[in-house]
Amino acid sequence: MALKNINPTTTKAWQELTTHYEEAKDFTINELFNVDSERKSKLSITDEDLHLDFSKNIISEETLKLLLNLANEVELKDAIQKYFSGAIINVTEERAVLHTALRSNSEEPILVDGKDIKPKIQTSLRKIRAFSNKVISGKWKGYTGKSITDIVNIGIGGSDLGPDMIVEGLQYYKNKLNTHFVSNVDGDHVSEVLKKINPETTLFVIVSKTFTTQETISNANTIKDWFLRSASIFDVAKHFVAVSTNLEAVHNFGIDKNNVFPMWNWVGGRFSLWSSVGLSISLAVGFNNFKDLLDGAEKIDKHFQNADFSENIPVILALISIWYNNFFNAETEAILPYTQYLSKLPAYLQQAIMESNGKSIDRNGDKVNYQTGTIVWGSTGTNMQHAFMQLVHQGTKLIPADFIGFHSALHGLEDHHKKLMANFNAQMEALAFGKTKEEVHLELKTAGLSEKINQLLPYKVFEGNKPSNAITFDKLTPGSLGKLIAIYEHKIFTQGILWNIFSYDQFGVELGKELAKKMLKEM
Ligand code: F6P
Repeated sequence: MALKNINPTTTKAWQELTTHYEEAKDFTINELFNVDSERKSKLSITDEDLHLDFSKNIISEETLKLLLNLANEVELKDAIQKYFSGAIINVTEERAVLHTALRSNSEEPILVDGKDIKPKIQTSLRKIRAFSNKVISGKWKGYTGKSITDIVNIGIGGSDLGPDMIVEGLQYYKNKLNTHFVSNVDGDHVSEVLKKINPETTLFVIVSKTFTTQETISNANTIKDWFLRSASIFDVAKHFVAVSTNLEAVHNFGIDKNNVFPMWNWVGGRFSLWSSVGLSISLAVGFNNFKDLLDGAEKIDKHFQNADFSENIPVILALISIWYNNFFNAETEAILPYTQYLSKLPAYLQQAIMESNGKSIDRNGDKVNYQTGTIVWGSTGTNMQHAFMQLVHQGTKLIPADFIGFHSALHGLEDHHKKLMANFNAQMEALAFGKTKEEVHLELKTAGLSEKINQLLPYKVFEGNKPSNAITFDKLTPGSLGKLIAIYEHKIFTQGILWNIFSYDQFGVELGKELAKKMLKEM
């Protein structure tokens, strides 16, 4: 059941891609479109409300064929089957990787240590639903008999970034509860949140898989001390709940055992928003929306498992990214959502992608001799057009970009949305096709700047040939957001398989934590 251990560079496809690159590096997206009038439709995939247009990439049909051969040669299909069925693919931590089971509606059992985990998942979903309903409806009362008005999620990394990003992303669907997030060990973070809340009407959700994380436990203790200034220890049960695998530590903190929501070792922190870690999401937008988020993700799980690789959105995105990372030596990728709601998506994906695939030891225990994890960064359109896009358009680096857009606006304001989407399309067009010397020449001449042409022309040329993917949905809904996140999760998985690394541990974060503890003692 172990994952295959294949150095990608030793495959026939990799060698052919290396040869092919010598020719492909001189391809222009412009020319690729000129020679094939159907390119856009050929290099597009539609799946219900989701559309991927990957035609504006420096790839030909031959490139695609070789990349798909690479996926087959490293036996990606076999790896996907192992991923979904609960094989121990997180080998270094001896764990299965089953965040996909959290959103599965199928009754097919999935065994971990010989036991079906599906009933536990269902029980936990029922608990999330009952608890969210009680708090949202106002039936859950605080220690002075008042209903809850504010939720504070205390967690960091995967116990913060996912819920925070989704709550912000689904703000349109939010109920009246105010939701706050405390993550940083910097005391100013928690202090600013405490300024905004009333202990009588606030519910604290402590999220920590291990319940040992320095930041989270420090923040939780500070908050508990603050709470106990106006309430008594017997009131803690009405205001503190926890999401954790470490029941003993939760109990020692003073949390009622009925107020503990489960977490499991087979769910990695950065993939945990689908579990009880998403409790703050369910509280903020209601359980039905939370469930729609899960159902959206499940649709992509099925697509990823069943679609042919040539029609498989996560696989195609992963392969294109490998093409730039390993053959063009691109260092980074940009993630550019054209909706203000998804302003936290890049930070969320930074953890998901970089904590997963920022590895340099292969599945054989040897140092890799090729590039792995991409650096991802980004911001929302159109703000970033007035910030860093200059470098993407005219800088010296190749930065493949994912543009994420939605056909309809949530609040209407059609005029705004048309402008937003015109910019969305214009950026990709400008990146891909640029502006030639001849066009700039004519433009300057028409503007009556003939005598300045020689001086200005080189600065005004856009070389173009900057790749992008357009990922579009009809509308930003819980379901479409679930799909979007699941696409990136499976892209991460696919790349980890192709790079022959283990994507689901994160030993790289440990040394700094250990040293900080040591230094703290010395201080
Ligand atoms: O430091 C990294 C990390 O282990 C992440 O992987 C995880 O999401 C985060 O810390 C928080 O961990 P916990 O949920 O155990 O507090």
